[in-house]
Amino acid sequence: MFSALRTSAVRVNTSFIRNSIRTKVSLPELKYKFTELEPFISADLNTLHYTKHHQTYVNGINQALEQHAQAEAAGDLKKCVELQQNIKFHGGGYQNHCLYWESLAPQSNGGGKLPSEDSGLYKAVTTQYGSFENLIKKANAALAGVQGSGWVFIAKNTDNGAIEIVQRYNHETCSGNLKPLLALDAWEHAYYLQYKNVKAEFFSAIWNVANWAEASRKYDQA
Ligand SMILES: [Fe+2]
Repeated sequence: MFSALRTSAVRVNTSFIRNSIRTKVSLPELKYKFTELEPFISADLNTLHYTKHHQTYVNGINQALEQHAQAEAAGDLKKCVELQQNIKFHGGGYQNHCLYWESLAPQSNGGGKLPSEDSGLYKAVTTQYGSFENLIKKANAALAGVQGSGWVFIAKNTDNGAIEIVQRYNHETCSGNLKPLLALDAWEHAYYLQYKNVKAEFFSAIWNVANWAEASRKYDQA
């Protein structure tokens, strides 16, 4: 009996350690230097955004998941439920920012260049919106309409293939049947250092470094 108890205790502890290791996330490696997105997004702004704000969500989700693993191992359902909001907020913040960096590219590496006319994404956008200019105009209106903090995603509806402009508050994610192709950050921290209160200028500028090639790849995979 003592042997069985000892085995059980070791099993729980090992599970906790394994979960802690598995759930650690870190800042993503980027394929460009922040100076390469200038002048549209300054290196100072992106450095702050990446090393401070995104890092906060990395730390937050790791801490929340570790606390959840401890609560789960202890059988503390109440604590597990309490932690859901933190997991959702920091996990969403972590995921959305990873998508944000993937949504950008230096102009020297295709940033701002529309996908080729024979691509599925190009055909879908021009069929549904008439032009990319029109899609961008509508996306900018959605970005301007975010009251407080939030995101706008250009997404593919995997049920019907439609291209949708998806507005989300705080760090709600774009998921389920909505596959995000581009993620656009409308939090004040995404633009204030460079654009101050004129956020419309940031939303206009960001399309100059939009990574449509990555968006097109995601469209094909969805
Ligand atoms: Fe952000």
